[in-house]
Amino acid sequence: MYSIKELDLQGKRVLVRVDFNVPLDEHQNITDDTRIKAVLPTLQYILDHQGRLVIMSHMGRPKGKAVDKLSLAPVAKRLGRLLEQEVFMAEDCIGENVENQVNGLEDGQVALLENLRFYPGEEDNDPEFARQLAALGDVYINEAFAVCHRAHASVEAIVSHFPETAAGFLLLKEMKYFKDAMEKPRRPLVAIIGGAKVSSKFGALENMLPRVNKFIIGGAMANSFLKSMGFALGRSKVEEDLVEAAGALHQRALREGVKFYLPVDAVVAPEPGPNVETKIVPIQEIPENWMALDIGPATSRLFDEALYNAKTIVWNGPMGMFEIDAFSRGTISMVYSVADSYALSIVGGGDTDVAIHSTGQTDRISYISTGGGAFLRLLEGKPLPGVQALGGLEIHE
Ligand code: 3PG
Ligand code: MG
Repeated sequence: MYSIKELDLQGKRVLVRVDFNVPLDEHQNITDDTRIKAVLPTLQYILDHQGRLVIMSHMGRPKGKAVDKLSLAPVAKRLGRLLEQEVFMAEDCIGENVENQVNGLEDGQVALLENLRFYPGEEDNDPEFARQLAALGDVYINEAFAVCHRAHASVEAIVSHFPETAAGFLLLKEMKYFKDAMEKPRRPLVAIIGGAKVSSKFGALENMLPRVNKFIIGGAMANSFLKSMGFALGRSKVEEDLVEAAGALHQRALREGVKFYLPVDAVVAPEPGPNVETKIVPIQEIPENWMALDIGPATSRLFDEALYNAKTIVWNGPMGMFEIDAFSRGTISMVYSVADSYALSIVGGGDTDVAIHSTGQTDRISYISTGGGAFLRLLEGKPLPGVQALGGLEIHE
């Protein structure tokens, strides 16, 4: 794939796919504009080079219909403020009116197209929809790392319509950090994997096993490993059908010399909820009718110690049900452990990012990926359709 720096942008309609899928509150206020700020260098670069900037994005999951609450209009306003210039909000993302509006742009002006997912053609990777989008640009830039794991029209089918395509600075940076961490890491390389379901992380664990020096496992997914070791976990969430496979993966890791860290204690409660009774118990002593909902303080100390000599850390997934205050301490403590480490630290996945932002430690992490699903796909060692469409991982500069 080519870098945006290779393209001549002056006077051209530069069609850029970004991921402006930002969280909104009930009044349509943007509650976190990280994803908008993350692509400003690319947008600014295009404007500085006298491109006519045409931006496209999805927002939420409207399932192929126009949904007022998922309009990108609030993003146009915020973007205008960040760029300090007017951003023309298009009423649609395809069609004659939009084409006229886009063709009326002058060098250095900006238009934002309406939510791509208002049309089913976007998620269907429909060639006709892609053709209509492609009519709005002379060159195409992909700057939407977080949606590159989706073979959608604006990410994949559209690419064949352009003689010149390139990756934006954010996409290049995401790929570079990931490559550095996984392909030529400074060792020890430690992977911290958490989250609710081992089923959704199994591919990542298998792919990383031959590459990492240590695994640190937290979140409810740890339960399947603990169960395979014979612990009685009360009513804790366990994916029974994966217990055997989890045990086999654990054994394989040990055989191959990968250190494998699992929780030694837990914060337990009779059920998940904001005002429930909780206590801290060793893993051996989870009461029959209680469930583990976070790692305990002994585990946090153990994990912290395991990170002490790390030179590279890759982290995906929370240590417990951290959206509930009583079960958030394990994840918060992990944020501090990673932030305090001297390692190159790379974190990805929506939930994990929220935890880091909420503790104000953002600047103390080397790199926070803007992708959730896309980041996980990379950890699984699978190609991203959006990156493949641009010509694959290798960067021609
Ligand atoms: C995300 O937030 O994960 C990306 O914007 C992709 O959205 P999706 O999961 O709805 O495809
Ligand atoms: Mg997602």
